[in-house]
Amino acid sequence: MLLLNSEEIRRVFTMEDAINSNEEAFVKQSKRQTEVPVRINFDVGDKGITSYMPALIKDAPVTGIKIVSTYHDNPKKGLPSVTATTLLVDPETGMVNAIMDGTELTRLRTGAVSGLATKYLANGDAKKGALFGTGGQAYRQLEAMLTVRKLDEVKIYDTSGEKIAAFIDGASAMAAKLGAKLVAAATPSEAVDGADVITTVTSSANPVFDGKALKKGVHINAVGVFMPHKRELDEYTVTHADKIYVDNMEAVMSEAGEFLIPMAEGKFSEKSITGELGDLVLGNIEGRTSKEELTVMKTVGFATLDVVIAWNVLKKALAEGVGRTF
Ligand SMILES: NC(=O)c1ccc[n+]([C@@H]2O[C@H](COP(=O)([O-])OP(=O)(O)OC[C@H]3O[C@@H](n4cnc5c(N)ncnc54)[C@H](O)[C@@H]3O)[C@@H](O)[C@H]2O)c1
Repeated sequence: MLLLNSEEIRRVFTMEDAINSNEEAFVKQSKRQTEVPVRINFDVGDKGITSYMPALIKDAPVTGIKIVSTYHDNPKKGLPSVTATTLLVDPETGMVNAIMDGTELTRLRTGAVSGLATKYLANGDAKKGALFGTGGQAYRQLEAMLTVRKLDEVKIYDTSGEKIAAFIDGASAMAAKLGAKLVAAATPSEAVDGADVITTVTSSANPVFDGKALKKGVHINAVGVFMPHKRELDEYTVTHADKIYVDNMEAVMSEAGEFLIPMAEGKFSEKSITGELGDLVLGNIEGRTSKEELTVMKTVGFATLDVVIAWNVLKKALAEGVGRTF
């Protein structure tokens, strides 16, 4: 069995590798070459949620599971809010053959979902970005955005000014390498003003900006919410979007408050969702057709992404002799 920690994963796998891995995972998902039960979310008292996310990739064949917890008070203990471990199972013997740092893999693959969606949906000449949230996922979200579009500036907003400053401090060198300057935004409206690409990756239960302030032609990645009673996007944004894409229709329709809250009020219909990102990649559904369109990508995450990325990381690690056997 191979053990891989976060540093070893980073050594063998780049953001570009992760975006390619997700492209493969989305295609497999949309071609139904996978078996993915809706994840089990256990509410663990009032502390947080632990989710069990298994998947089978039929053509590999490979199975695996990610155990992931979201505990929003963890940062007070110096730990990430979202922590995970990913296991893969050897198809020849049925034995677990890899245990990996799922916290790192989650950050990579979740950033890469936004990266892939931005690559397909944002205007090609996008110049300004905005990032809401500066927690554990934020660095990879920023890196993904800058990997697929040549942005010159990204505004950073968080409810904590201190966290904005610390994030800019830690991420500026990576952003500069990819051609962008990071600028602190004092308010949500300042962050979205003029933005061509926006990513929301917060722990907020309520909309993080006013949809009426959006520039025409913006592409939005909504990442933070996976609970039916929470949402990062307001009703205006989801009802005025020209095209809405999701990672996995079944999961989004059971977990994404962005749609479920206005649906319960009769203000939004599932028919307004254009389809899954995998079908866009396959060319089965239309993407952006004008520079003016408002496009939205909503992701709640699903296990195909985790198992495919873990499998691709394992192959590279074995080829490069990285990791320890146990
Ligand atoms: N879609 C997916 O696949 C996926 C994967 C991983 C994590 N997530 C979710 O993404 C969210 C962020 O994850 P994380 O690990 O970065 O969490 P985190 O707790 O480390 O960071 C969340 C950040 O959001 C900020 N925030 C809260 N309200 C805000 C607001 N209104 N405006 C701007 N910033 C605000 C907080 O101050 C904090 O800095 C979590 O809710 C997590 O569950 C989703």
